[in-house]
Order: sequence, then structure tokens, then C-alpha cells
Amino acid sequence: MELLDKVIEAVKECKQIVTAPFSVSEKGSLSNIVTSADKAVEEFLYRRLLEILPEAGFLGEEGDACQGKRYLFVVDPIDGTANFARGTGCSAISVGLRKDDAPFLGVVYNPFTEELYYAQAGRGAYKNGKRIQVSGRDFAHGLYYTALSTYRKEYSGLCMDILAQVFAQCDDFRREGSAALELCRLAAGCGELYFEMRLFPWDVCAGEVILKEAGGCFTGLYTQGLKQDQPFPVVAANSPENMEKLLAIVTQALPALPEGYF
Ligand code: IPD
Ligand code: CA
Ligand code: CA
Repeated sequence: MELLDKVIEAVKECKQIVTAPFSVSEKGSLSNIVTSADKAVEEFLYRRLLEILPEAGFLGEEGDACQGKRYLFVVDPIDGTANFARGTGCSAISVGLRKDDAPFLGVVYNPFTEELYYAQAGRGAYKNGKRIQVSGRDFAHGLYYTALSTYRKEYSGLCMDILAQVFAQCDDFRREGSAALELCRLAAGCGELYFEMRLFPWDVCAGEVILKEAGGCFTGLYTQGLKQDQPFPVVAANSPENMEKLLAIVTQALPALPEGYF
């Protein structure tokens, strides 16, 4: 069995954990919660993924970590935890793998809808066995996925200013509550524009590979010298033209990271 198939199998096995009863606790702020399922999925994947590729390192949102050499698994055990705790059905298990510090493989799985997105560098992106591609829509017909910096509300005004500018020039916007799934929406041609103010590597590691393999553009802003587990703003789009236009709006509003960002 190929590496990608093995990772998909491991990710799908997590369904039994996320469909069992769980408890909820707060993680620093009122909106930032964690459930017992987040921790259980991460512990399971730590063991299972390192069985598949023992030489790899591991970086998980809930704190499980180990060093590797050429490979690094970057894992969000549940992306969209607020949705998960409320039972909206819009959450995903997100597993990315970096090789020689470049995005290599990504699997994003929503166990409630059975949507499974996956890609490996150079091999295309897929949703449930079918090849996917970004749309050809221009900015004016574009759907913008974004969020208002829920966990750091001091940046919400800035995100709303950017939203107002983008919204005035595009078709409409969406906020689904899972960065991983939103990037996959772009990959599958169901959205064209994306910006988030403060995402962590585990939010986007898998989505980046899937979107790029589907023909899209992805960039982390102001990432030079960043440590492995630090956040950064993310801009993504279906085409280079839309990316250029969105980047111009974002970088004008956000010319550098604000003081105290980390
Ligand atoms: C969050 C989701 C959400 C995004 C936040 C993320 P979590 O991840 O992806 O859509 O707006 O920035 O932190 O906390 O549910 O794993
Ligand atoms: Ca996340
Ligand atoms: Ca999470």
C-alpha cells in the first residue's frame, strides 16, 4: 500500500473516536475550546502515523510533538472544534506531511459528511476518488471565504475592513468555521478567494497541498524566520490573477504583522 493510502486509512479510523461521547473545556479564551475528542484523535494519530512512517517527526495542535529528519506530520485532530462541539457537521481531521520542509501530502476528512480530500505533491488533488480542480471564476464572480479572528478579537476590525473591500468587488462571502475544509472548497472549485489573519501550521498544512495540487495559489504572509509552531496570515485563491488582486488588498491593510501578534 502506498504512503498516501496508509495515511488516508489512519485518518478514516478516527471516525470512531469523533462519533463517541466527549467532554468540552476552555483553552485560554471563551471561544477557544478543546474537547476530549481533539486530544484522543491526536494521541491516536501520533501513534498510528509514526507506525506508518517511523522516521517522521510530529507536530500536533494539542501538544504532541517529536523531531524527525526529512519528514514532519502536521496534524489538526479536529479543525472546526466549535462546530464539532455544537454538532454542526462541519469539522475535519487534517493531516499534512512536509518533506524536506516543503508541503508533500495532505488529507482532510469530514467524518460527518464522508467528504475526503487528499493530494500528494505532483500527483493531483482528489475528493472521494475524483480528481478536483480550482474554478476559472474571476474576482467579480468569486466567493470569498474568511473569518474574523475569533481567538484574537483585537484583529476583527482589520478583518472586517478587508472583508468590506473584497465583498464590494466579488460575488459573496462565507465563513464555515474550518480553515482546512474552506481551503478544500477552493480546491474543488466551490470558492475562489481566501484570507485568514492568524492561522497555525496545523490549520493549513494539508489544505495547502490539496489546493496547490488542484491548481490554486496559497501563501503565508511574513513567515520568514518563523518557528515551526507559530501563526501567520494566509491568503489563497483559485488563480494567479485573483491572488494578485487579493494580496494587494490584504497587504495594503496589513503591511506587516502587528506588535504582539505572536
Ligand atoms: C479554527 C478553524 C476556524 C478558523 C480558526 C482556526 P480549530 O481551528 O479552522 O475556521 O477561523 O482560525 O483556529 O480551533 O477549530 O482547530
Ligand atoms: Ca484548526
Ligand atoms: Ca483543532
